[in-house]
Amino acid sequence: MLAGPPISSPPMKNQLLLLALAAVAALAAEPPSGKKWVIGMSQCNLGEPWRVQMNADLKAAAAAHPEFEVVFKDAQNDTLRQRAQIEEFVSSGVDLLIVSPKEAAPLTPPIAEAFRRGIPVIVLDRRVLGADFTQFIGADNRLIGKSAGQWIARRVAELPRVKAGGRARVVELKGLMTSTPAQDRNAGFREGIKGAPIDIIFEADMKWLEPESRKEMESAMGVNPEIDLVYAHNDPGAHGAYLAARAAGRAGDIIFVGIDGLPQEGQIYVREGLLAATFEYPTGGREAIDSAVEILHGRPVPKTLVLKSRFFTHDNLPAGAWVN
Ligand code: FRU
Repeated sequence: MLAGPPISSPPMKNQLLLLALAAVAALAAEPPSGKKWVIGMSQCNLGEPWRVQMNADLKAAAAAHPEFEVVFKDAQNDTLRQRAQIEEFVSSGVDLLIVSPKEAAPLTPPIAEAFRRGIPVIVLDRRVLGADFTQFIGADNRLIGKSAGQWIARRVAELPRVKAGGRARVVELKGLMTSTPAQDRNAGFREGIKGAPIDIIFEADMKWLEPESRKEMESAMGVNPEIDLVYAHNDPGAHGAYLAARAAGRAGDIIFVGIDGLPQEGQIYVREGLLAATFEYPTGGREAIDSAVEILHGRPVPKTLVLKSRFFTHDNLPAGAWVN
């Protein structure tokens, strides 16, 4: 008798199984019956260039996926409106949600509810509480804050006041402290300047907004005839502070440092000498679409995706240097 392998030998069975799996995967790679996958994107506001850039990054990445339709909603910096918009996306039956939430606590329940109902949710940039979402994507704000603090400690060490044994006089203009990037940029900064001869002579919550920052800087200058440096949690905040100082004829005496580092915003301020440094905060728009592809195809994604960041000074533009 010939001892050839029987038709249903284990290797053949495995091949059939692989073929069947491939067929299922191919089916899953397209939304059902030629329809598009609808992705709902809830953006907390479009007031700052950084958020406009995030939406542009999402759009550009989604353009490579004709099977996706991304629907954008702008909550106009209103937590209740953002909550309602997330609920609307859920009841309209989107296939996946991307949310860049204004604040952590009040936006946790609607996101958790969507997730529990089986809608995959990608949280971008600002965190929520708990773990009821599919993936969080963002840069490490604590590390960015710490790195800014260390850079600032080195920079102020060159000031005549500090060289003569004195202490640098620093203003911290914070982002909205009910949002996690502001909490982390504050905590990281304080860690970065630990032990340095620095006094924080004024601190205020400017809510990420340039006009608020300008007002707070006016107050800071009103009570402090000498300010060496302003650390603002974002570039609009740093620019607002700069404008206030310039109007008071004091911009030349003060060093300004911000965060975001967009080529069309912070990097220009650095090139023009308004800011001494800015720390890049990548939007995560492209990565969110990459993750959406994985998730909708049923493939696992890590719970947290940490994006790398660079910092820019007059000496290292336009390449910048990595924060680590
Ligand atoms: C824009 C913004 C950015 C900042 C980010 C933090 O709304 O304030 O400038 O880096 O949000 O979430």
